[in-house]
Amino acid sequence: MTRPALAALALGSALFTLAPLAVAGETYIIPFPKGVDGSVLALPEDNPMTAAKVALGKQLYFDPRLSKDATVSCATCHDPAKGWTDQRAVSTGVGGKHGTRNAPTVLNSAFNYLQFWDGRAASLEAQAVGPIENPLEMADSLTRVVAWLNSVPGYRSQFQQIFGGPATADTLAKAIAAFERTVYSGNSPYDRYTQDKDETALTPAARRGLALFEGKARCTQCHVGFDLSDRVFHNLGVGMDKKEPDLGRFTVTHEDKDKGAFKTPILRDLTKTAPYMHDGSVATLEEVIDLYVVGGEANPWLDPKMQPVELSDADKADLLAFLKALDGDTPVVTPPALPAAP
Ligand code: HEC
Ligand code: HEC
Repeated sequence: MTRPALAALALGSALFTLAPLAVAGETYIIPFPKGVDGSVLALPEDNPMTAAKVALGKQLYFDPRLSKDATVSCATCHDPAKGWTDQRAVSTGVGGKHGTRNAPTVLNSAFNYLQFWDGRAASLEAQAVGPIENPLEMADSLTRVVAWLNSVPGYRSQFQQIFGGPATADTLAKAIAAFERTVYSGNSPYDRYTQDKDETALTPAARRGLALFEGKARCTQCHVGFDLSDRVFHNLGVGMDKKEPDLGRFTVTHEDKDKGAFKTPILRDLTKTAPYMHDGSVATLEEVIDLYVVGGEANPWLDPKMQPVELSDADKADLLAFLKALDGDTPVVTPPALPAAP
């Protein structure tokens, strides 16, 4: 297997290099669908992919016993049957408690430079342990979860075999991240249009919509690359009219310019992941387009790239047709059998 050349990418304290996909004679081939450029995937050197690790991560991802009352798993809020989201405005965790943010898709999240709407986690590994202890999500303690995993023979033996020791918070995160690095959306009509140069993959309306997306509507100022996202932070003004608005990226950097800025979401499977935006406040794609027509919601930190755009009703319909042509093959992964509790 060839090893694509990519410069080491330093982010915060975490250093990523492109690691070989082979471990101890095992070559793990990640199944990238059409349109998803696997050559730019930065794998952390200390978490190589193996089939056994991915299989363990999948069990952990689907196991509600990692939550306080054994009712909530990662898959509850990132459900493969719902475009790997929960299709709610904001998520509901243990005991029906609500968070304040919309659950993004896990699909293609391996390509994020930073995880979460505000980028507070530098990797999938760093992200994975957060929800377990978040009182609004799985509401558990990592100490309890790790001890429990080591009390379940079926888990303990897998950790031993894969990592050479008992489960720890570190290896728990590594296994879940390895599983997440296997799930991608691609092969959408748009991917077939760009990759196969297949003109017929897009309807005439979607093709006109693409021209608007790249042209007059200026969407590609932020929505670029194969996942249609620059993966950095912008203030569109969403939610900024609240009394105590979510300040997004500012809560991480404490820099004034980042107030109300959120990570640009990827634009895939949009018909499956409504409602939209970091707070789930926008119910439909039509309303998303209307927000851009007026240039976002005025506030002191509005991104200067947000300017009103003139779109006729026909233009809006074309743009919508293009956004719908970004629906791909989302992997429908069935929940695995889980190790029996002692
Ligand atoms: C109660 C619902 C809930 C549960 C359970 C949950 N998540 Fe999330 N997840 C969210 C929400 C909401 C966000 C966005 C939070 C934010 O940005 O502050 C998120 C963000 C993420 C992201 C970042 C994606 C991106 O594009 O930035 C990943 C990856 C993720 N979750 C994976 C997981 C994993 C793995 C688990 C299980 C260990 C898990 N989640 C459990 C609701 C949930
Ligand atoms: C200045 C950068 C920028 C421009 C220009 C821009 N977007 Fe966005 N887009 C974002 C950000 C950032 C968000 C998330 C904002 C939030 O949640 O507060 C977003 C959210 C979205 C969403 C919701 C996706 C989801 O999963 O919640 C859609 C759809 C979308 N944009 C489409 C478009 C279209 C169509 C255009 C052109 C008319 C466009 N965007 C122009 C940055 C931009």
